[in-house]
Amino acid sequence: MTIEVVPTGAALGAEIRGVDLSQPLGDNVFALIERAFDEHGVIFFRDQKITPPQQVAFTRQFGEIDYNIFGERWSVDGNPEIVVVSNVAEDGKPIGVKRAGENWHSDMCYTPRPPRGTMLYAHEIPTLHDLPLGDTEFASAAAAWDALPASMRDFLAGRRATFDFVGRKRAFPPTQMEIDRNPPVTHPIVRTHPKTGRKCLYVMRDDCSGIDGLESDEAEALIAALADHVVKPAFIYRHQWRPGDLLMWDNCTVQHRAIQDYDLPQRRLMHRTTMGGAVPV
Ligand code: SIN
Repeated sequence: MTIEVVPTGAALGAEIRGVDLSQPLGDNVFALIERAFDEHGVIFFRDQKITPPQQVAFTRQFGEIDYNIFGERWSVDGNPEIVVVSNVAEDGKPIGVKRAGENWHSDMCYTPRPPRGTMLYAHEIPTLHDLPLGDTEFASAAAAWDALPASMRDFLAGRRATFDFVGRKRAFPPTQMEIDRNPPVTHPIVRTHPKTGRKCLYVMRDDCSGIDGLESDEAEALIAALADHVVKPAFIYRHQWRPGDLLMWDNCTVQHRAIQDYDLPQRRLMHRTTMGGAVPV
């Protein structure tokens, strides 16, 4: 079957057609997928039927798997690499992490080596009279960088921001052990994508607590302005999920947030895997 890469028409994102992820992928097909991922920031495959080990195997093709903190509490039996993201409860107990990522963020940006990318496989999608709910929005931090005035780019060159694990609002407060394991780190505000060389902004409201060399008021105002700039409508793709979608995003050039416009008895059930990354440059 012919493989097609169909851009969404937004600032980022493409659908890959003609690939069955339950089958082994030849080197050429994988290379095409990886190139599309690096170039478009978000790629997705519709109508997939894959098992947890198949999702893990596909994730591993992109490198090492990263273990997310939520996996310690909510992973798939026999597959600790997969985090269950869900609002469903069984016997009164949540089966997965609920309300994950409802504010704009880039996954695990508070770690020294944030993950390269994240994959979500949709098992159940909430609906209201057949209208799908629980979309995910993605913003191109690369398009946002491209659109900055030259004087702002010059001002940002070489600057680093502090990323603080305790800053982010979470559905479940972190434990003291998680806080101790994640001391504040600094990353460049302007990141360079390791594969494409494309520059992008790496600033989020909740996670950034300061900027080296700036007073806290000035830093706070700059973080707010840049974080708001990244999520302007011109830079956004909104994904309307269908069961069977496998979607992945790049955590360097893309920020995302989950839209929480549903509640039980509307069920949402996703399996998430995370690809290991490198120190941002
Ligand atoms: C996340 O931020 O990883 C969750 C995204 C989603 O559930 O749509």
